[in-house]
Amino acid sequence: MSQIIALFNMSGGVGKSTLTMNLGFHLAAQEKNRVLLVDMDPQASLTTFMGLGPFDLQQTIYDSLLKRDPLAIIPDLLGCDLAPANIFLSQAELQLASELRREYRLAETLKAVQPNYDFVLIDCPPSLGLLSVNCLVAAQYLLIPIQTEYKSVEATVNLLQTTHEIAQVVNPTLKIAGAVPTMYDERTSQAKRALQTITEVFLSLKTNKSFADTIVFPPIPRRTDFANATAEHLPLAQYSPRHPALESLEIITQAIQQLP
Ligand SMILES: Nc1ncnc2c1ncn2[C@@H]1O[C@H](COP(=O)(O)OP(=O)(O)O)[C@@H](O)[C@H]1O
Ligand SMILES: [Mg+2]
Repeated sequence: MSQIIALFNMSGGVGKSTLTMNLGFHLAAQEKNRVLLVDMDPQASLTTFMGLGPFDLQQTIYDSLLKRDPLAIIPDLLGCDLAPANIFLSQAELQLASELRREYRLAETLKAVQPNYDFVLIDCPPSLGLLSVNCLVAAQYLLIPIQTEYKSVEATVNLLQTTHEIAQVVNPTLKIAGAVPTMYDERTSQAKRALQTITEVFLSLKTNKSFADTIVFPPIPRRTDFANATAEHLPLAQYSPRHPALESLEIITQAIQQLP
């Protein structure tokens, strides 16, 4: 049975796209799963990270959301298939606003291709608009990257919880697979405190049915090699096969494969 997992956080720059690409590689190239990566961010970071020029693309996810075209898929990049995006996707938010079943467009698009994959990973936009709602409606699980930095982790989690409550109205079975603390700088006390807070806040949410199975994963360390690898359109595992940060990615990969 295939799983649709959305990497969601309404903040930008927390490592969503980097994590989507790296987990995709681990799940596909290393664990031999059939993986589809879906870029739902008009900034098209994932599409760029995977080595494509967003402006060169004739067909993108925009065409599926707006015109209900079959999903445009670029096969076999780093062992994954990719449904790319480009800046046109930013218009979808406005153009969909007056459409019927506007929250279900991505879910309906993915339904046709889901049987071909073991995992569909959706890279969400950094916003709370209609594109994000489409991601939340299409997903079975959310994986939430949270940056371990000095800003209110509680506020972030509160906002995530509210978002999740809204999403549940249209997608009652949506579950939270886990939180991934990102860009962890183990030398700073701020990062340690943020990590502790993330752990505590998610523990306190365990009484909520959707959060009951939520795992707070080991943090992804802040390492420029992530950015260096991405700049070469490579996952960290190919850029630096013995990199210590791969351990966190491995743990998340194994946990994702165990999701019920
Ligand atoms: N663990 C990490 N350590 C250092 N830099 C990172 C890490 N993860 C991501 N980055 C860099 O941070 C920036 C934002 O990451 P990105 O994955 O695009 O975040 P988001 O998708 O949440 O906006 C990128 O330049 C990326 O290369
Ligand atoms: Mg991104």
